[in-house]
Amino acid sequence: MNDLTPKVVRTSTLATFKSEGHKFSCLTSYDSITASIFDEAGIEVLLVGDSAADNSLGYTTTLPITVDEMIPFGRAVASAAKRALVVVDLPFGSYETSPADALATAIRVMKATGAQAVKLEGGARSAEAIKTIVAAGIPVMGHVGFTPQSVHSLGGFKVQGRGEGAAALLEEARAVEAAGAFAVVLELVPAELAEEVTRELSIATIGIGAGNSTDGQILVWTDFAGMHAGPARKFVRKYAELREVLLSAARDYRRDVASGDFPNSDEGF
Ligand code: KIV
Repeated sequence: MNDLTPKVVRTSTLATFKSEGHKFSCLTSYDSITASIFDEAGIEVLLVGDSAADNSLGYTTTLPITVDEMIPFGRAVASAAKRALVVVDLPFGSYETSPADALATAIRVMKATGAQAVKLEGGARSAEAIKTIVAAGIPVMGHVGFTPQSVHSLGGFKVQGRGEGAAALLEEARAVEAAGAFAVVLELVPAELAEEVTRELSIATIGIGAGNSTDGQILVWTDFAGMHAGPARKFVRKYAELREVLLSAARDYRRDVASGDFPNSDEGF
């Protein structure tokens, strides 16, 4: 944590960070233990991403996760975070049908989790939903570029906004800003375009696979902590190799149980 980190991070804090050129960090979190660790480390934003679908629930995409499944994750993170801004993703199918449905979902999520904001995917197509939620007093984070809930229509996990698609992506980000969002995630966007969007927008941009000119960065915690086997995606930096640590610990425990070494006479009553 540095001197610029306030006691409590609010949506307005991200605007201050942007105007002061203070880059901030965001991580996903789906449970109270990781949330309290990341909060203590000074991570400014904790996103209860619908990436809980593939990282906690074993789905292969984010599409199947429901609001009912997201709420316990949101509650766990919001109750553990003492100073980070907690944002909960609205899952696929819970906001696209109408702005009224989007608002109903956002209200339910805010009441049930204690989070400070919600996130939803899409630019112009989600503008009315964003406006309606914001008008009810709920802060919204947008998400453009590669939007995982649209993985099938986007033709897979692909960089967005290359070549002629750049102007359209900038317009999508502008639509999110005009609708009243306080920040926008730019996922899998060429670095130069992300830099332009960051310059053009007055709200904070948060990049993932979008170069280092965005106002903030976000990583999925299981990626940043090295919880997955095999090499990480190009835009991920592994800050730990926790999978190896846990694998080795579990093997040692199993060995000690099998040999009768655990528990020893001090490890009982
Ligand atoms: O659900 C998620 O983890 C996300 C991040 C990739 C931004 O939306």
